[in-house]
Amino acid sequence: MRLVPVLSALAMVLLGFVLGFSFPASMTPNLQCGVLPWSGSGAANSSSSESSFLGRLWAPLFRNSSGTSNATSGIARRPEGAGRLPPGIVVSESDLHLRRSWGSPSQDAPVRKYLLTMAVGYKERANVNATVQKFSDNFDVVLFHYDGHTTEWDDEFQWSKEAVHVSARKQTKWWFAKRFLHPSIVAPYDYVFLWDEDLGVDNFTAEAYIEIVKKHGLEISQPGLDATKGHKAYDVSVKRNSGDMHKTDAGGKKCPDVHQRPCSGFVEVMAPVFSRDAWRCVWHMIQNDLVHGWGLDFNFWRCVDDPEEQFGIVDAQYVVHHAVPTLRDQGKG
Ligand SMILES: *[C@@H]1O[C@H](CO)[C@@H](O)[C@H](O)[C@H]1NC(C)=O
Ligand SMILES: *[C@@H]1O[C@H](CO)[C@@H](O)[C@H](O)[C@H]1NC(C)=O
Ligand SMILES: *[C@@H]1O[C@H](CO)[C@@H](O)[C@H](O)[C@H]1NC(C)=O
Ligand SMILES: *[C@@H]1O[C@H](CO)[C@@H](O)[C@H](O)[C@H]1NC(C)=O
Ligand SMILES: *[C@@H]1O[C@H](CO)[C@@H](O)[C@H](O)[C@H]1NC(C)=O
Repeated sequence: MRLVPVLSALAMVLLGFVLGFSFPASMTPNLQCGVLPWSGSGAANSSSSESSFLGRLWAPLFRNSSGTSNATSGIARRPEGAGRLPPGIVVSESDLHLRRSWGSPSQDAPVRKYLLTMAVGYKERANVNATVQKFSDNFDVVLFHYDGHTTEWDDEFQWSKEAVHVSARKQTKWWFAKRFLHPSIVAPYDYVFLWDEDLGVDNFTAEAYIEIVKKHGLEISQPGLDATKGHKAYDVSVKRNSGDMHKTDAGGKKCPDVHQRPCSGFVEVMAPVFSRDAWRCVWHMIQNDLVHGWGLDFNFWRCVDDPEEQFGIVDAQYVVHHAVPTLRDQGKG
């Protein structure tokens, strides 16, 4: 009979341990600030012993977001809302890969390495088809529909059946990107392409493009624009005829100071390609009411350590910007 008090004392000790383990985290305000551990935000300054202890417990759960985020490695915090969950059941990332509702999940086709996303209207489907053909099976594809037509795509294009379709009338690429490309949802993809639908891709292949981007360590890039054909806005993004890629418009007429935007550290908004880490940061810059994306291109540089080295225009794989005003046709221009 003397066993009972011993057991209940043991139980209390255990309970105390469990409470002690879970409460500091959920009650310490600096763990609750809602910044994801991979956000790369500089505000991550929690130095209490509890948080770094928990951080070490949690850290292996989160993808090693490259060597640049050393500052957060020791103090990775739980995602907002996960405060009460034990580490083993926190799922910190997802993806945009279609899953089957039958069979064993382990036999599903693997998540692709890269992500292609485009804002599209049905009228431009021929060009969108041509574009998708230039992307290999290593890409998951997401189409953002601004004109309400979605199922029609499946009737015409086999690849459409394996794409994710998101529909919201008259919304822009940035509206969709903010809401459907959360960094922890696209975290499995090494690169995210956020493209317009009106690009001529005769001289573009995605795999070759990515090879160049990797070789030169570009965090944010775009294909060069063929100025002999389409529309061009900035000299720096015009395709050069020498080499794989270029980083600045040094020596250009409009670039007396090559260290300023748009002379280096710059890509345009119509065909940007982001590394996982760069996208984590850019996503935070997109504001809810930012309709056209104006000004974003002049601020992308904030999302890399060394803009003059980590931005590039890929010349060997280039596109033509047709500048078709398709979304504008959906209502008031
Ligand atoms: C973070 O801590 C470092 C070193 O203790 C300090 O220099 C820096 O100002 C702090 N940053 C913030 C945002 O509190
Ligand atoms: C984390 O990233 C750094 C730099 O890229 C690398 O050296 C290190 O091996 C990585 N650690 C793990 C556990 O993947
Ligand atoms: C990351 O931290 C390790 C150990 O503190 C240090 O040796 C290394 O130089 C740091 N790397 C960067 C990129 O700051
Ligand atoms: C889609 O593009 C491919 C390659 O250009 C072409 O062969 C195919 O016919 C196109 N599909 C349709 C339905 O137009
Ligand atoms: C670009 O594509 C067009 C159309 O396919 C082709 O005629 C041209 O030779 C290509 N240019 C280069 C440099 O490959």
